[in-house]
Amino acid sequence: MCGIVGYVGPDTGARPLDVVMEGLARLEYRGYDSAGVALVAGDEVYTQKRAGKLANLREALEGDTVPSAATAIGHTRWATHGGPTDENAHPHRGGADGKLAVVHNGIVENFHQLKQELLAQGVTFTSETDTEVAAQLLAAAFAESGDLTEAMRSVVNRLEGAFTLLAVHADAPDTVVAARRNSPLVVGLGEGENFLGSDVAAFIGYTKQAVELDQDQIVTITPTSHTVMNFDGTPAEGKPYEVTWDAAAAEKSGYDTFMEKEINDQPHAVGDTLLGRTDADGKLVLDELRIDEANLKDIDRITIVACGTAAYAGMVAKYAIEHWTRIPVEVSLAHEFRYCDPIVSDRTLVVSISQSGETADTAMAVRHARSLGALTVSVCNTHGATIPRESDAVLYTHAGPEIAVASTKAFLAQITACYVLGLYLAQLRGGTFADDARAVMAELHEVPDKIASLLTEMDRVKEIARFMADTRSVLFLGRNVGYPIAMEGALKLKELAYIHAEGFAAGELKHGPIALIEPGQPVFIVVPGPDTPNELHKKVVSNIQEIRARGARTLVIAQEGDEEVLPFADEVIRVPHTSPLLQPLLTVVPLQIFALHLSTAKGLDVDQPRNLAKSVTVE
Ligand code: G6P
Repeated sequence: MCGIVGYVGPDTGARPLDVVMEGLARLEYRGYDSAGVALVAGDEVYTQKRAGKLANLREALEGDTVPSAATAIGHTRWATHGGPTDENAHPHRGGADGKLAVVHNGIVENFHQLKQELLAQGVTFTSETDTEVAAQLLAAAFAESGDLTEAMRSVVNRLEGAFTLLAVHADAPDTVVAARRNSPLVVGLGEGENFLGSDVAAFIGYTKQAVELDQDQIVTITPTSHTVMNFDGTPAEGKPYEVTWDAAAAEKSGYDTFMEKEINDQPHAVGDTLLGRTDADGKLVLDELRIDEANLKDIDRITIVACGTAAYAGMVAKYAIEHWTRIPVEVSLAHEFRYCDPIVSDRTLVVSISQSGETADTAMAVRHARSLGALTVSVCNTHGATIPRESDAVLYTHAGPEIAVASTKAFLAQITACYVLGLYLAQLRGGTFADDARAVMAELHEVPDKIASLLTEMDRVKEIARFMADTRSVLFLGRNVGYPIAMEGALKLKELAYIHAEGFAAGELKHGPIALIEPGQPVFIVVPGPDTPNELHKKVVSNIQEIRARGARTLVIAQEGDEEVLPFADEVIRVPHTSPLLQPLLTVVPLQIFALHLSTAKGLDVDQPRNLAKSVTVE
């Protein structure tokens, strides 16, 4: 949700603009309604901004005489206050002389009241945004103190809501000042130059040395320094760390889209998430999980909070964790959790799942859980993000940076990490499934190769997707762990191809959804393996027959060697054999590929679907 980049270097030239434009390109997945830059040039601030994707800004810059500068900020937007127009695009200027420029991520909740105050003082506005209010306040505060950091400190204390702000001023030419409250911001340290970004992707092409900041902090960067301060004015220090991946990981590496690349990264995402989780005796050791073992042993309830694809990973995990630990697991959409009067005690483990670690709904759910006394564990893919920082413990997924808006490899890594957590809890508590942990881990280690081989067998799925480019509705059925996979398959299609799609529990079909079946209706069915307990396989095969009898076109995802589905399948998509609980790590793959290729066949932007943003940092 909005990408922010800041740069300050030693020399006046083209580099600041190049750095910021490259950073924005890497952050465009965060929002792509409009984009803009500000450069401090002499005693003026130059700005250029355009509605639409970054390409529009690039074109505008190419058609203009852009001054040399040593300091620059940039922004790529996901609109909240005010539509995606040139006027509402960031940066916004402040002051009658327009010498200050600001970019902003988040929402200033009390902007209306502040705007009234400014209007009464005769300040005029050129946009409908809350950001311009912050820009005008900052300009006024700078006029008083002549110090941009001090101006930022006085203004942030008047703002309510979640925000990251970056400001530059022509009278403070080699400085960028930034502030964060419940919104992401990291510092990048170069040699004789420094960087700011919504995440490290913004500057990964230039440095791997990063500094984490806390909430309610201000950082001032110059070419040779970074100074951190709390909102109350007390000095603070950021936490330095080294980024473990390089620029290539955030590039397409020869694939047409990030999504395609990330789907193909999935064997690594699962494999890397399993790395280092066991000791020499094969016993699970979760070093990152710094919660007292006695407290973990004592938990009597688990609540998973997450949104979107991450919530479906949580639903898959529920089946496995309950089976292995016999602890009741509830999955709550994070935005519902806070408002449903949740039953939480100090024996509740609240597991948040978030790729970005920034999703505002999930972060608020974690805070609420902590305020109620729960133990909190974050399953997260982004080092040092808000949610892991605010949780009692973290279990990092090691999927590498995920850039495509529609989540794929993070989903598999999330399921994997939750399984490791479930097995660890089973081991800790003893009982029947403690001994099975080793065998399940061994089987999990075989999954990356199975995904890799499955990925080489997807030609027919791609063909089916191309033939179905004009389809208006697709249904997905699954049962047990296949049920969340059906919903994830439907979500992918909605997100990427803008097609009406719904996922159902196959058993629910006869209670209503079967009325939707008419001749030719395509239905994907995620079939449990024949060795799934409780004869679920047979029951799902009966469901296929029921819909086929009513004219449905059945697209069946079934395990290798499952012959029973053949008479009722218009198409069979094979996945390698695994034990039932691990099947989601394979069955989701054809559904991802299907959505990707159907979207491509429709000529849509796979990586940046309309109206969406990768990390939603507003509630
Ligand atoms: C947004 C994205 C989804 C993602 C969800 C949760 O809605 O479009 O792809 O699943 O946020 O994101 P998180 O970063 O918390 O996993």
